[in-house]
Amino acid sequence: MYVCLCKDITDHQLRESIREGAGDFSQVRRRCKVGAKCGKCMQEAKLIVQNELMAQTECVGATCGTS
Ligand code: FES
Repeated sequence: MYVCLCKDITDHQLRESIREGAGDFSQVRRRCKVGAKCGKCMQEAKLIVQNELMAQTECVGATCGTS
């Protein structure tokens, strides 16, 4: 789903930035430029990034498919 229409950025791209090493929202912004124009996407983008970071944290403490 498109999150940032100005920069054509999808939720998948935001999650991918985190998987590639971005550790917080500012690092995601630096990598993919989400919110760099009108800024209307910022709230939604932050939520997606926070959820992905929390999911990764939970994964570290759990087995997360490693059996
Ligand atoms: S929708 Fe993201 S900067 Fe405009």
